[in-house]
Amino acid sequence: MSIRFDNRVAIVTGAGTGLGRSHAMGLAARGAKVVVNDLGVARDGTGASQTPAEEVANEIIAAGGEAIAHGTSVTDAAGVEDMVSQAMSKWGRVDILINNAGILRDKTFAKMTLEDFQNVVDVHLMGTVTCTKAVWEIMRQQSYGRIVFTSSSSGLYGNFGQSNYGAAKAAMMGLMNVLHLEGAKYDIRVNTLAPTAATRMTEELMPPEMLEVLKPESITPGVLYLVSEDGPSRCILAAGAGCFARTMVYETPGIYLSADENSPEAVAAQFEQLSAADGQLPLQQAFEQTEAFAARAAKAMGITLPPRQGGG
Ligand SMILES: NC(=O)c1ccc[n+]([C@@H]2O[C@H](COP(=O)([O-])OP(=O)(O)OC[C@H]3O[C@@H](n4cnc5c(N)ncnc54)[C@H](O)[C@@H]3O)[C@@H](O)[C@H]2O)c1
Repeated sequence: MSIRFDNRVAIVTGAGTGLGRSHAMGLAARGAKVVVNDLGVARDGTGASQTPAEEVANEIIAAGGEAIAHGTSVTDAAGVEDMVSQAMSKWGRVDILINNAGILRDKTFAKMTLEDFQNVVDVHLMGTVTCTKAVWEIMRQQSYGRIVFTSSSSGLYGNFGQSNYGAAKAAMMGLMNVLHLEGAKYDIRVNTLAPTAATRMTEELMPPEMLEVLKPESITPGVLYLVSEDGPSRCILAAGAGCFARTMVYETPGIYLSADENSPEAVAAQFEQLSAADGQLPLQQAFEQTEAFAARAAKAMGITLPPRQGGG
């Protein structure tokens, strides 16, 4: 069945260029009304221009779609509120939010200033939080919402010189895990994209042949699936060059050490065993771990635990 977004309203941040532009165009081509947000900054977040957002909105309109441009910074709560209320007064709802805006300030941690760390965390993490917060109540009221956070392999696996970026990008998973739980009752689905694409962010890092295959447009179909009506929730979708994979966090079965055995030496001695992947599981929420640990210890100690009361 074909995936369409007719009568759906989408906001895509950082959509003046690169991946965001591709997502905005992709949504519009399948019927969505799109708010094209972009502050029009340089790669390091300096400067500002309305032009990139306006150009993409005009391109969508010229192709027969519906779009408005909005030049707020995702970190400016008042600007974001204004953007959301413009979407609401024009179209009456917000169904989809793709948090994509981002900047880079790469340096080794030794050379990184706190200001460069803070700026990157502000745009990626707080910008995502600010935009998501601005649509959250609307989506709850509608009992419908599709939200994407943009992470990175840098946040999942680490990348030299990107402590600020990696930390901010890893935060997307934490935010997704919790908002997935809190949004489920309202059919708000929250997913994370970990893209790799040829954009101005990466153009100096790779040879031209590699850039040629890593087109942003090859990623957008995955994003469109994530924000579709029957899309998943709590999924980390890795995507690039037409390849799609799912990133998952697993926990090993681990070991139990009784009070008598429990020592740093025993942990050291069994480190390999507690790291063994056999039987590892993806947990669905934090308390699952607590319950599993407590149940295992209680069983070994002959204690009966009361039934579960709530999360923690
Ligand atoms: N290109 C990649 O390989 C890659 C890999 C992993 C993650 N990402 C992430 O994908 C997203 C898009 O990156 P891209 O490669 O298309 O980069 P890009 O630089 O081409 O696009 C980023 C856009 O965000 C806008 N922007 C920056 N700060 C903003 C702010 N405060 N408010 C509103 N707009 C702002 C910029 O003006 C720019 O148009 C980013 O979150 C990036 O971290 C990209």
